[in-house]
Amino acid sequence: MKTPATSCPIDHAALKAGACPVSPRAAAFDPFEDAYQQDPPEYVRWAREEEPVFFSPKLGYWVITRYDDIKAVFRDNITFSPSIALEKIIPTSDEANAVLASYSYAMNRTLVNEDEPAHMARRRVLMEPFTPEALRHHEPMVRRLAREYVDRFIDDGRADLVDQMLWEVPLTVALHFLGIPEEDMDLLRQYSIAHTVNTWGRPKPEEQVRVAHAVGNFWQLAGKILDKMRKDPSGPGWMKYGIRKQADYPEVVTDSYLHSMMMAGIVAAHETTANATANALKLLLQHPSAWREICEDPSLIPNAVEECLRHNGSVPAWRRLVTRDVKIGGIDIPAGSKLLMVMASANHDQRHFEDADALDIRRDNSSDHLTFGYGSHQCMGKNLARMEMQIFLEELSRRLPHMRLCEQTFTYLPNTSFRGPEHLWVEWDPLQNPERRNRALLAHALPVRIGEPSAHAASRSVVVESVTRLTDDILRLRLKSPDGRALPRWMPGAHIDVECGHPDVSRQYSLCGDPDDAQTLEIAVLRDPHSRGGSGWIHDNVRPGDRLKIRGPRNHFRFDESARRAIFIAGGIGITPIIAMARRARALGIDYELHYSGRSRRSMACLDELSALHGDRLRIYAGDEGRRADYAALLASPADGTRIYACGPTRLLEALEHCCAAWPEDALRIEHFHATRGSLDPAKERAFEVELKDSGIVVQVPPDQTLLAALRGANIDVQSDCGEGLCGSCEVRVLAGRIDHRDVVLTRAERDANNKMMACCSRAACGRLVLEL
Ligand code: HEM
Ligand code: FES
Repeated sequence: MKTPATSCPIDHAALKAGACPVSPRAAAFDPFEDAYQQDPPEYVRWAREEEPVFFSPKLGYWVITRYDDIKAVFRDNITFSPSIALEKIIPTSDEANAVLASYSYAMNRTLVNEDEPAHMARRRVLMEPFTPEALRHHEPMVRRLAREYVDRFIDDGRADLVDQMLWEVPLTVALHFLGIPEEDMDLLRQYSIAHTVNTWGRPKPEEQVRVAHAVGNFWQLAGKILDKMRKDPSGPGWMKYGIRKQADYPEVVTDSYLHSMMMAGIVAAHETTANATANALKLLLQHPSAWREICEDPSLIPNAVEECLRHNGSVPAWRRLVTRDVKIGGIDIPAGSKLLMVMASANHDQRHFEDADALDIRRDNSSDHLTFGYGSHQCMGKNLARMEMQIFLEELSRRLPHMRLCEQTFTYLPNTSFRGPEHLWVEWDPLQNPERRNRALLAHALPVRIGEPSAHAASRSVVVESVTRLTDDILRLRLKSPDGRALPRWMPGAHIDVECGHPDVSRQYSLCGDPDDAQTLEIAVLRDPHSRGGSGWIHDNVRPGDRLKIRGPRNHFRFDESARRAIFIAGGIGITPIIAMARRARALGIDYELHYSGRSRRSMACLDELSALHGDRLRIYAGDEGRRADYAALLASPADGTRIYACGPTRLLEALEHCCAAWPEDALRIEHFHATRGSLDPAKERAFEVELKDSGIVVQVPPDQTLLAALRGANIDVQSDCGEGLCGSCEVRVLAGRIDHRDVVLTRAERDANNKMMACCSRAACGRLVLEL
């Protein structure tokens, strides 16, 4: 492997003067600046938008800022080794290193910085204490602690939540989880901050020696605690569990691992969660309407936790080492390079999250955030952290719904990867404490949700502002928020799910209004003659003033604004997403044409509006006038830089796929609303088994279960969104076995390659698949 780059990796000698491609903004990037700490996604907005992968000469790292690029890096832990995750990001002075050596400091591989195959073998052996059943045992302890700490300041009217609760409770929980006695808590608190500064910070030379002493002491204390535990490794706690497992797997759970993990584990379990909760509370109190909503309806808390982790998470960036020459986001990155993945930026990437900068506690893909990392190293403690955060938010919102942020300046410890305010001052009127009037309130407790929030929790109420008949069979619904507040913003191609009279019956409808209108969402609903409760229910029941439940907006049909030319093709009601897209193309000055076909003009929605806006760029093909579109001729010759967006009946879309066979793979973009196959019919499906190569587990998939559900049942995380083969988020890599593809995401060539599948719907065409998981 080449030596890692520590300064500009471009050979300046070979360049003309001043031609270094490191842009001035890349050269100025400095994650130890306060601006990064105050708001990491804002600090790199320019990069996310214009230079998503750049080299930072100040840091000696390549910085990655977009969602898809970061996820791809997390996904491949062979090309992108995690071995540098705990390395000092800025090398310290010889003097500081000598201090560390004097304490025999030897922090080494734990889990988070371990390569394969050692990592997965170890993770598997140590997983059990993180299973949902095991985590449930900690719930009463977390709740008891949260209540005790709130008791201490509830009558004061003012508190620094970090100092008085959020630092110590997660530390105590972490110590319990690890099985460490509480007696050393104060010392551990100082030491763990030193470890953060030592690893992810840039201490000044004079500070380095002090930090090194603290880190050295931390290391020795960790060793002493470990020795104590070894004498009696019985009883609860993850570290004791590790010591017991060492007896059976000495090569997997090594001494070096145990000592390093004793130290790193405290930070992993403590600071991450303490900071995440402080960030979440700060964010919610800065958005009083969101705070009020969770006070009034605590069932929103699991989703609010997830949205806060997305919007303002506590681990803004993480590192990987590149092990072979590779391209990321189209940029060549040589082997030996170091990567800083700014997950906080990915979590604000408009390409993945609609209206990404808005805090939306009803967002239904919040849990796609990358704050816990992704892939085989994804945070093992995420469900413990989620549980703690839910309990803290629940206790505080129930007992102090009237608290507000004090005027204050927020300060942060300058470092790349652990972020949370050092103090969080809040105030309230103790005379208004609800428990003074109603003591019964103290005993309330909501059942904690272990794992990701359910999609149902994310639904939002809207009021039907108007219902307009566009054609005999099509209604236009304008929806607004019940309290007049702005609705989430969206981009052309987005859709919402509308609950049709029953929580289990929902249908997807493209948004066809104006994305700049934040007050209303507009959909057009065609009555499906075979409807069983969906569009038929809307047509028969929905009236102005009614309330509806919706989820989203989300977008699997994004419009590429950088395209030079666009061809829009709509059949029938498929015009709805195209309406917003064509309007956008027009506004951006993109060269476009719009082809719209239907049975008759009478049956086609919005013709007048479209004609007025698009003039002769609009071609109308009404079947009863004998006008048919000749797509074979229109698409006969592939054109560079042209994108085709199509939505309509399956027949039309299949014909277009055929016509575009000679076009580049991604030129044709299709909006599918319905998976091509229906739900699982256990009478027709066959059971199969999957071997998970990385984790060495074999999972059985019975006929009545999807692969995704079976994997989740085995505690393996796979992201998902639509659950119907439409969005591509549940993709898993397949190493062996034939796949029965049932999604509508993969291209023909991708299906034929037989090396990836959508876990939510596709199955095995043989008895056994081997997956890279
Ligand atoms: C790994 C974040 C809480 C234990 C990680 C990683 C991140 C992370 C970013 C690296 C993921 C990767 O490389 O793909 C967080 C955040 C937390 C949190 C934001 C709180 C909000 C916890 C807790 C524990 C924990 C409470 C409990 C012990 C671990 C472990 C790993 C890990 C053991 C290593 C997993 C592996 O490499 O296989 N965490 N963490 N974390 N976390 Fe957490
Ligand atoms: Fe959307 Fe599987 S979750 S394709």
